[in-house]
Amino acid sequence: MKSRRSYRAFFAGLAVLAGVAAPAFAEEPVQPIEPPKEINLAQAELGKKLYFDPRLSRSGFISCNSCHNLSMGGTDNLKTSIGHKWQRGPINAPTVLNSSLNVAQFWDGRAADLQEQAGGPIANPKEMGFSHTLAVDLLASIPGYVTEFRLVFGTGEIDIERVTHAIAEFEKTLVTPNAPFDRWLLGEADAISPQALEGYQLFKNSGCVACHYGPGLGGSSFQKMGLVAPYPTHNEAIGLAAVTGNEADRFKFKVPTLRNIELTYPYFHDGEAQTMTEAVDVMGRIQLGRTFSDAENASIVAFLRTLTGDQPRFELPQLPPSSDTTPPPIPFD
Ligand code: HEC
Ligand code: HEC
Repeated sequence: MKSRRSYRAFFAGLAVLAGVAAPAFAEEPVQPIEPPKEINLAQAELGKKLYFDPRLSRSGFISCNSCHNLSMGGTDNLKTSIGHKWQRGPINAPTVLNSSLNVAQFWDGRAADLQEQAGGPIANPKEMGFSHTLAVDLLASIPGYVTEFRLVFGTGEIDIERVTHAIAEFEKTLVTPNAPFDRWLLGEADAISPQALEGYQLFKNSGCVACHYGPGLGGSSFQKMGLVAPYPTHNEAIGLAAVTGNEADRFKFKVPTLRNIELTYPYFHDGEAQTMTEAVDVMGRIQLGRTFSDAENASIVAFLRTLTGDQPRFELPQLPPSSDTTPPPIPFD
């Protein structure tokens, strides 16, 4: 994880080396999103198919895209997700957009990276309700997949490591560069409105950047929800303490990214804040002990709207058909 200071030092150093002025954003706590690099395109193409394939669920109906809908900012826009057999999910689904920038995955960070994360939902009885063995056997029964795994990995032998590796490679492509705010950071002065700029100043000066910083404006640390006043919720999640067993980590959650925040409502791990206005108001009061006026709140929200970047664009994948030996889906039982 790069801290704000190391980014500054890095850019200042680069500038000295190149004998030019530091980039416009060198002094800012937020950096532009970089386009994806070093993607293995063949793996990402296969991963895209798997991401959209509902046959990785017991019902044959739920894919990664069901809860992380790429037409809706990589979320389901529900308080908590609906899983296998319409089960109520325990927690709000974070966006998959820019998730490759996260220090760890899940609200409590229990998966180290995207590959480790991707194995979770397939076998989660409340999400896709399947098992890794069944998922692998199912894919192995589909000739189109066997051929593609052979092309991509040099072997038609399908295992869960290769499946999650391909999905993670696809997820790395899901970054959203070129937001109006990034264009402003790069020196395009009129890329954001005066109200949004005022909102950004307030966002910095009132202390939001202590937790929401870096290219993702979040995703880099775990912080207590309710730093200066407790956050009342019926949700049972206890945050990082569930992973570390450390009482001091109770109610610390991974700071969510604020990228594309206007698309990823509702907000917070319990999904209880329906609007950005509400989320900003809660954050001001319980993280900073500050009550924003309506005008202040509106300017911060105007700033947050400038964080919507170019959404991933690609052709909808066509999935290879099942064969006569493919186990049928079990939507009802
Ligand atoms: C039934 C809904 C559902 C399905 C299906 C689902 N997810 Fe999720 N996903 C969630 C929820 C809810 C969370 C948050 C869980 C938590 O933090 O405890 C999550 C978390 C994540 C995260 C972590 C993001 C972050 O910021 O921490 C990633 C990445 C992700 N899912 C990718 C996937 C992939 C890939 C698949 C398909 C293999 C998938 N999800 C299937 C609901 C779902
Ligand atoms: C002490 C660290 C901290 C500070 C300061 C802070 N936040 Fe947060 N922010 C968090 C954490 C942690 C969460 C997730 C909490 C949860 O869901 O339980 C969060 C969540 C959010 C969300 C909802 C994101 C989502 O996808 O659910 C928004 C919007 C937000 N913060 C904006 C702000 C603004 C605006 C400020 C300044 C007024 C601010 N935050 C100050 C730590 C912080």
